Parts: sequence; structure tokens; C-alpha cells
Amino acid sequence: MTRFSSSVAELRSSEIRDLMSLATSPDMISFAGGMPGNELFPLNKIDKILNSLCEKEKQVALQYGPTTGLPTLLESLSEWLEKKGLPVKSNKLIITTGSLQAINILAKAFLDPGDSVLVETPSFIGALSAFRSYQANLVTVPLNGDGMDIKLLKDRINSSSVKPKFLYYSPNFHNPAGIVYSEEVKKEMIDVLRNQEIPIIEDDVYSDLYFFEEDRPKMKLIKSMDPEGIDVCFTGSFSKILGPGLRLGWMLVPDNIYQKCELIKQSIDACSPSISQVVADKFIREGHIDAYISEVREEYKKRGLAMIDTLEKCLPESVSFEKPRGGFYTWLQLPEGCDATDVLKKSIEKGVVFVTGKTFDPDGIKNDHIRVSFCNTDVETIKKGVPVIAEAIRVIMNLA
Ligand SMILES: Cc1ncc(COP(=O)(O)O)c(C=O)c1O
Repeated sequence: MTRFSSSVAELRSSEIRDLMSLATSPDMISFAGGMPGNELFPLNKIDKILNSLCEKEKQVALQYGPTTGLPTLLESLSEWLEKKGLPVKSNKLIITTGSLQAINILAKAFLDPGDSVLVETPSFIGALSAFRSYQANLVTVPLNGDGMDIKLLKDRINSSSVKPKFLYYSPNFHNPAGIVYSEEVKKEMIDVLRNQEIPIIEDDVYSDLYFFEEDRPKMKLIKSMDPEGIDVCFTGSFSKILGPGLRLGWMLVPDNIYQKCELIKQSIDACSPSISQVVADKFIREGHIDAYISEVREEYKKRGLAMIDTLEKCLPESVSFEKPRGGFYTWLQLPEGCDATDVLKKSIEKGVVFVTGKTFDPDGIKNDHIRVSFCNTDVETIKKGVPVIAEAIRVIMNLA
């Protein structure tokens, strides 16, 4: 028998992944992925950048680079992040292979088998899988409409026999819950965690994709507040604002954590793709990034508002949801007794897929929600596909 390590022996293909593999017909409408719209990529600009590279730049693009990132990208990205209010000068930046790698490296830096980690429920599945791969014990803190339940956060910390190694959270346009943390909740988190030796991993990949200018002040990051007595490890990404195929993200962390993370990254992939770093650097330096983000922000807003409108028109009254104000996702609370997997099966029969709630439950049990993405489908497709989900819920619940 093949003797796998204890950290992977328990990994199994989920029932949902198996169901999804059925959903491959070309005319299937997918609200499942958390990926940008294919037709929104800035193809002409990327073409121009690639065609304008001089010989030296092409050589850099095909060569290994420094583990922490190409100096030119570190410089342009630092400037861009600084303009957003992040404390770049008092921290260290590492370019990573997607922000998921940043989360994974931080998990490796902090976790021994059996350690506890504080996570939101629901939570981003990629991070949960990374923590599980280090055999962490996931301690859940439920989310409300304005962030994590602070009373329960305190309870979890006080009732743990061993102190959790870190807290992982996602402040803006949460995946899957769609919510934005209020300033008050973030301040309370700081009060609870100050001087506790529990670092925060703050995962922020959607904050540029707000629909409403007026929401920006409350989206201030804990990293930007630069609280004393807490190590804040900030992670971000080019995936949702340029292209996930680049596989480029970053972490901004205190110096002592940076040193360990650099060593860890060295042993994983030595460096992130140089060719992607050259492209991303030019995209910033040539002044395209902010204009491009404004453009896609408008399109995602149209899709998000069409999603809200269609859901309001066709969902049974017993389904509720928080209206998204940015990002990629709507998170629907199903009526009592309605199981998300049953709705998914019915919906796939009629040509529409989405992701079930238990995928995002750290305990893998609670299945009373569904995540419906609006990022990778145009308005017409949203109007066509959402009623199919509504109908599937009606059929499962025997509603007229
Ligand atoms: C909340 C969140 N964090 C991190 C990531 C990882 O993104 P990437 O590794 O492509 O940068 C995702 C991707 O869906 C996400 O939703």
C-alpha cells in the first residue's frame, strides 16, 4: 500500500467536486467560479507590453529572479500600495505566487500539527485547505453582516486551552459571504488581540472592486491602522484586478516574519514567475492599473446589480441575502430544511451551477447557504441563469 504522509492521507475528493465534474457541458451556466470575466482581460495592453520588451527585459523575464521578487516590481508595487495607505516603509514586501501562496507560507511559518487557528465561518476554502494541510485545528468564529462576532471571538480565545497561533480573516467583499467589515468590528478585533501574541493574517483581494465610492472609508484595513502590539500580515493579489493566470500576489509583513517567509518561499518555488512580474511591473509603471480597475469595477457593478435585481424578482420570500456592494459574490441563505446540495443537483439538471455552503464551512457540515458568483457571467446570462436556481429551490421546498 502507498504510504502517504499523515497530512495528506485524509484528503479526499469532495462530493461537491464530483458533482461539479458533471457540470462540464459547454452550455452550462456557471455561477461557481471566483474568477474574473474572460472578456474583461486587458489583452491589448498586455500584447503591447510583451511586444515592447527589450532584449535585456526578455532575458530577465525568462530567468530565475530573487526569492522576494524582482526589485523593479517591488518598487512599483510598494508605491502603489503606499498610495492606498499601507505602511510599506515600516514593513517588508514579498512577491508570491498568488496570494494563496502567501497564506500558505504564513501558515507554514506559524503552524505545528495540532495547533489552533481562528477562522471565520464561512471562510475562503483555499485558506482553510492550506491550514488543514498543516494539520491545524480550525476554531470558528461566526460572521454577522458587519464582520466576525466579537463576543464569540473573545469566548473562543478564553476557552482555548492552548492559544490559537493566528487569526485569519478577510475584511472586504468577503468570499463567500460578500460582506464588508465595519470599522467598529475591526477596532474591537484590535482591542481583543492586542498583546495576545496572536498575529492577524489579513487577506484582502477584493477591496478595489467596490461598487460605491461612499463605502471606501469604512474599508480601511487593519494593516493600514498599524496597531501596536499585534503582528499584522497583510496579503493581496493581482488575480482579481489583472489576471489570476499571472499567479502573482504579495505579503506585507513585519521584518522578523519576512525573514522566515523568505526562507520558506525559497524551498517552495525559489521565486515567482519572472515573466509575470515583468508584465505586472510595466502595467503599473505605464499607468494602466488604476484605469483598468475603474473599468472592470463598473462592469462588476453592473453584474452585481443585475444579480441583486434578478434575485429579488425571482427568489421565494423564504430565501434571504445580503446585497453585495462589491467583489464577486452573493451568499444566499436557504429556507429552513433546504439542503444546498439538493438544490445544486436540481439546478445542474437544468444547466446551472454554483457552490454549496458547506464547501466554506470549516467544519464541512452547515449546508444552508449557496454562493452565487456574478463575476464571470454577463448581465444577460445572469438574468437567464438565476431563475433556474430559484426554481430549483421551489421544487426542493415544494413551493408553488
Ligand atoms: C479571499 C481570497 N483570498 C485569496 C484568494 C487567492 O487568490 P490568488 O492565489 O489567485 O491570489 C482568493 C481567490 O479566490 C480569495 O477569494
